[in-house]
Amino acid sequence: MPLQVAILAAGEGKRMRSAQPKVLHRLAGSPMLAHVLRAVRALEPRAICVVYGSGGDQVPSALPGKDLTWARQEKLLGTGDALRCALAHLPKDGVTLALFGDVPLVRTETLTSLVAAVDSDKLAVLTATPGDPSGLGRITRGAAGEVRAIVEEKDASPVQRAIGEINTGVIAAHTERFAQWLARLTNNNAQGEYYLTDVVALAVNDGVTVVAVTTEDATEFQGVNDRVQLAAAERSLQRRAAQALLRDGVTLADPERIDVRGTLHCGKDVTIDINCIFEGTVTLGDAVSIGAQCVLRNVNVGDGSAVAPFSHIEDAEIGGRCRIGPYSRIRPATVLGNEVHIGNFVEVKASTIGARSKANHLAYIGDASVGRDVNVGAGTITCNYDGANKHRTVIEDDVHIGSDTQLIAPVTVRKGATIGAGATISRDVPAGELTISQKKQVVVPGWKRPRKAQS
Ligand code: UD1
Ligand code: MG
Repeated sequence: MPLQVAILAAGEGKRMRSAQPKVLHRLAGSPMLAHVLRAVRALEPRAICVVYGSGGDQVPSALPGKDLTWARQEKLLGTGDALRCALAHLPKDGVTLALFGDVPLVRTETLTSLVAAVDSDKLAVLTATPGDPSGLGRITRGAAGEVRAIVEEKDASPVQRAIGEINTGVIAAHTERFAQWLARLTNNNAQGEYYLTDVVALAVNDGVTVVAVTTEDATEFQGVNDRVQLAAAERSLQRRAAQALLRDGVTLADPERIDVRGTLHCGKDVTIDINCIFEGTVTLGDAVSIGAQCVLRNVNVGDGSAVAPFSHIEDAEIGGRCRIGPYSRIRPATVLGNEVHIGNFVEVKASTIGARSKANHLAYIGDASVGRDVNVGAGTITCNYDGANKHRTVIEDDVHIGSDTQLIAPVTVRKGATIGAGATISRDVPAGELTISQKKQVVVPGWKRPRKAQS
């Protein structure tokens, strides 16, 4: 039976108090809606329709995807009306799974079992029994325990409010059935809305079995209606990510103090200290260690490298057995070979640095090609910017650059050259020689320091 998915995401999200539509607020680095999409794409449905409305085209343009169909709900008439909008854009047969854009932590496995429960002709709803059911739709059951209806809290009697089992908002049935039930909805309720949840009572009326699939994992149906719940959902996602890393054999100094805002791949025996942030796609090779308070965005780190605390690395390739930090800043388009050392307060940008080269203290290497076995002395900088254009510096293999050298690009330092400390290099430096550009040291005999006048 072909499967299709409707994601209802037209709501305004008033309680977010934001100019941004609710489903675009970020969780673990991606829009909330992207998490729902990831969970449903894994089901490989034939179509996914997202119902949007508030915030206009912001939502479709933030989440491009060839596999997505967008249905605009002009007026927010309720979740039932929203599903009606989606069905107008989806094939009329097969099974439709409907879920909400603001319940972003639902797992693919749970969705799979819900869809399986539809079977030949059933209505399946995902329910749960959270510690605090307030605000949510309650599941009412008959004498034999069969599901009878979903009652929204605002419409519920005190007895119904005391029910602990709630509707998570995920529901699945045959598309033709949904179409028939949705056509029969009324908005005769406390909120004056067409409730999707009313299809349960209609199904019971039609003699269709309603199956409640339950989830024990409280995070799965954590809805996001305000920023308190957004922060709670973020924590749940981060805990999940940390648990997955631990199970994969990564040592985390504290699983409560790591943030993965994207994808983190780790080899064997990786160690991550506290308060590190991983963004985009980060790959850490075997035996890599990341010190406390590091931020890594779109980085590959080779086997055996160590990044010491407070280092920032972005869009870069780090070779094997490198030593980075503490307090290093590695900026986009940087490629470090094996066994490179980048030390404290060294900034590297758009540069390649060959194997075993070192810049251990207080340097700026920008737009440079640095060879192997080069030593860059403390305080050395590439002057790569003339105020209008960027120029490249080439430093060949086995060069030693004395401390506090300025390399005024474009300039090339040839193989094996040594530059004396304090040089200002504006012309190419020959291979194998010592090049100096120093001011003469002068002694002024008898000079006296000025003193404050005594009053
Ligand atoms: C809904 C359910 C409730 C359930 C709860 C779980 C209904 C009537 N109630 O209540 O049983 O316990 O979710 O979180 O379904 N939306 C639209 N168009 C609309 C209205 C809503 O697209 O006209 C979307 C919203 O963007 C949101 C989702 O539907 O993503 C749910 O709407 P919301 O207003 O948050 O429903 P709840 O009151 O939370
Ligand atoms: Mg909600």
